[in-house]
Amino acid sequence: MKIDPWGSTTFQDYARLRDEFGIQEFTDELWKNFPHPHRLLRRGVVFGHRDFNLIHEAIVDKKPWAILTGLMPSGKMHLGHKMVIDEVIYYQSIGADIFIAVADIEAFATRGYTLDETKEYALNEYIPNYIALGLKPEKCHIYFQSTNSDVKDMAYILGKKVNWSQMIATYGFNASTNMTHIFSPLIQTGDILHVQLEKFGGVRPTLVPVGVDQDPHIRLSRDIAQAHRLYNVILTKDNKIGVFVKVDTDVEKLLDNAENILNKLHFSNLKRITKYKAIYIQEAKEEDIPKIDEQLAKSEIKFGGYGFVQPSSTFHRFMTGLTGEKMSSSKPESAIFLTDSPEEARKKIMNAKTGGAVTLEEQKKHGGKPDECVIYELFLYHLIEDDKELETIYNSCKSGKLMCGNCKKQASDLMEKMLLDLQDKRKTASKQIKKYLA
Ligand code: TRP
Ligand code: SF4
Repeated sequence: MKIDPWGSTTFQDYARLRDEFGIQEFTDELWKNFPHPHRLLRRGVVFGHRDFNLIHEAIVDKKPWAILTGLMPSGKMHLGHKMVIDEVIYYQSIGADIFIAVADIEAFATRGYTLDETKEYALNEYIPNYIALGLKPEKCHIYFQSTNSDVKDMAYILGKKVNWSQMIATYGFNASTNMTHIFSPLIQTGDILHVQLEKFGGVRPTLVPVGVDQDPHIRLSRDIAQAHRLYNVILTKDNKIGVFVKVDTDVEKLLDNAENILNKLHFSNLKRITKYKAIYIQEAKEEDIPKIDEQLAKSEIKFGGYGFVQPSSTFHRFMTGLTGEKMSSSKPESAIFLTDSPEEARKKIMNAKTGGAVTLEEQKKHGGKPDECVIYELFLYHLIEDDKELETIYNSCKSGKLMCGNCKKQASDLMEKMLLDLQDKRKTASKQIKKYLA
């Protein structure tokens, strides 16, 4: 199986995705001690991660960390798109530096939009909605890929450590794929890693919250980050911790530097073997690897390296469309757009596919299936904040007390409130956009 970030697959079996691609399970311990954890975390909508423990540690220890995510400026913003930004706004409230890439190069390369069109979508659709949803301008930078030369330079430089067969294996590119498309994953890697440049806050854990369709880009970025490191710290086959220099220039100097750092960390029993470009640390244990690696990474910059921390990611489930298939901008009846009028939204909700039984009698007798119901998803993802209230709906549906007609009405009423609130807040948003643009 291959994940195609530009395809239109729906993903159902999240557990299998995790196993197949080595995504970790997003367990309660990862967010439980956060301040006011977000509903998408509490309710298992975020189902997987890579290296989120680094972010957890930064949050708990109040150390600097960053978020980088991207928006695809090709069409209108719907409830599915809202989820990532809901997460971002939550993380902003607990201290993250925020970076948001407008993926205009990608939209141009893969979806046939002109750069002018993508600019319109970003400025008139996405960014005003982000502001209306509550994104704050402090420590927040929104930029366009096409005008960010740091990102584009990164893409060229980082591309040195990826070859064509890796790109084919990851993305299924072939001889007729256009070159801008082929280059766009490197631009996304540039998005993800440039926030660790000195100029943008330096080396630090970075979270990329995305839908699981973006995992190929996450894997590529993590591989590339690692490939550009000058040192490698590992547990060797004979159970020793070894620091290895990965490059062939300045080897002596890099080994001296590592020795210094290890001494400062109070490791004194070192065995240096220059021929292997290695230092073995007799008394170190596997648990010591992260802190050793962190110090080495920071020192790489003075040798012309980047010292990247591998980016972390979280993956959220996709919303089901109101028609039962994927929620998609190209099928307006499947999606509720943030700019829909309350009446349009009500109509879509009333026509939506539910988990209700065929007849009222049957539903009273056997109950409905909230787990397979789009209306319930609306409550769970967007409309109901109180977990108890959500649980009550779940139970009344299952026990046959709640009927779909009433339930849809409640969803429409809540949706109306949300849409009117956004409508109101968007009015002043366009005047504020400047404060967000990098
Ligand atoms: N490829 C993403 C999409 O299709 C957009 C994107 C661009 C992005 N750069 C990014 C997402 C960096 C996360 C991180 O929606
Ligand atoms: Fe869905 Fe509500 Fe009907 Fe239950 S009662 S199946 S939650 S619409």
